[in-house]
Amino acid sequence: MVERPFRYGGGELCCEGVALADIAERYGTPTYIYSAGAIRSAYAALDAAFAALPHRVCYSVKANPNLAVCSLLAGLGAGADVTSGGELARALRAGFQPSSIVLAGVGKSREEMQQALAAGIGLFSVESEGELRLLSEVAQTMRLRAPVALRVNPDVDPRTHPYITTGLARNKFGVPLSDARYLYDLAGQLPGISISGVGMHIGSQIEDLIPMIEATRSLAALARDLLGAGHPLRYLDIGGGFAIPYGEEMPDPPVRLAREIEPLVRSLGLTLLTEPGRSLVGGAGALLLRVLYRKRNGARKFIIADGGMNALLRPSLYGARHKLLPVREGAGETEADVVGPVCESADFLSRDVPVPDVQPDELLAVLDAGAYGFAMSSEYNGRPRPAEVLIDRGVARLVRRRQTYDEMMALELGL
Ligand code: LLP
Repeated sequence: MVERPFRYGGGELCCEGVALADIAERYGTPTYIYSAGAIRSAYAALDAAFAALPHRVCYSVKANPNLAVCSLLAGLGAGADVTSGGELARALRAGFQPSSIVLAGVGKSREEMQQALAAGIGLFSVESEGELRLLSEVAQTMRLRAPVALRVNPDVDPRTHPYITTGLARNKFGVPLSDARYLYDLAGQLPGISISGVGMHIGSQIEDLIPMIEATRSLAALARDLLGAGHPLRYLDIGGGFAIPYGEEMPDPPVRLAREIEPLVRSLGLTLLTEPGRSLVGGAGALLLRVLYRKRNGARKFIIADGGMNALLRPSLYGARHKLLPVREGAGETEADVVGPVCESADFLSRDVPVPDVQPDELLAVLDAGAYGFAMSSEYNGRPRPAEVLIDRGVARLVRRRQTYDEMMALELGL
């Protein structure tokens, strides 16, 4: 179990011994705060879960693309899972070994393929016949061969939120299992392709790992069939999706999956790849906000904070529930909606549950916001994206400063 990084000390909420109130004082709000210690222990736990197998943990950069977070994970020996040219550029700058980078995504452009081939990445996760043919063509003109794993869609329900379910037949992701054999035979014929693995990613925040175990069994059966047909596989990529507890739930630990699939993967002689995002960084981060006002509209009470859906979109988009803590210990609880300053009724951080009874000017921390928090934030309503601070061994470092208004307008032309 990874220890909770945000705890009270001396009557106030701290991260690795640093008082969040001091961070707010120095860097303002809204600000994301990440604990390097928590990221290290999450990585160590996941790496240990799969230790019995040849494996690589490829951090899914989309969860938290901050360069300092990426380079921390690269330094621990993680590979990277990237989903665009922008994430690839970032992963390279952060110091991930090119050969440990997997490029995934249903919509890779020709330019992204060229960029990834030039960088010498380790694996392309290919999601359609059209993409396979284009990748071969692009690689051939560069006199290269692209190392490929087809992403198969095993049609398994990961029983998570519909927006983050990716392994059902109706989702846009992957190729049907029934087409896989034909596509591998085709890939074997294409001059710019070097077959290297099989892959999947069935969804995110998967609390019960049984669907993932089932899907891995289907993937392994396919791999066995392909090996039998003479296709030279090296990798079995089972994707990401390990869940973290946002409330009182107790998601299955990855070691449960590891134990179940170990004999299977070992008998195939393949290297296991995982692509975790949330489970490495989610619990390590919090969003620090300041309360601006309290108000009552009829029977409804509101606490208005200085960041909302612009800073953390998950409650609005998925109905996600993040725990809120007052920075001042012992603030008590009240019935109110915690909302942001954005001009939309979808702009809320918490609804219909008791929340900390914080007064204007007090600070509030939104927990478990290290994954898909800053990454999905926006400048909507003309608000700068939050600052980001990484705390390592009790020392706070600003790893992304708040944008200025000039910077927010700098790319616009024609005035
Ligand atoms: N690999 C692939 C191909 C993916 O598409 C994803 C996430 C991952 C790995 C990492 O999954 P994780 O270990 O983080 O569950 N914005 C949503 C989550 C979207 C996940 C998208 N794909 C949220 O805030 O819940």
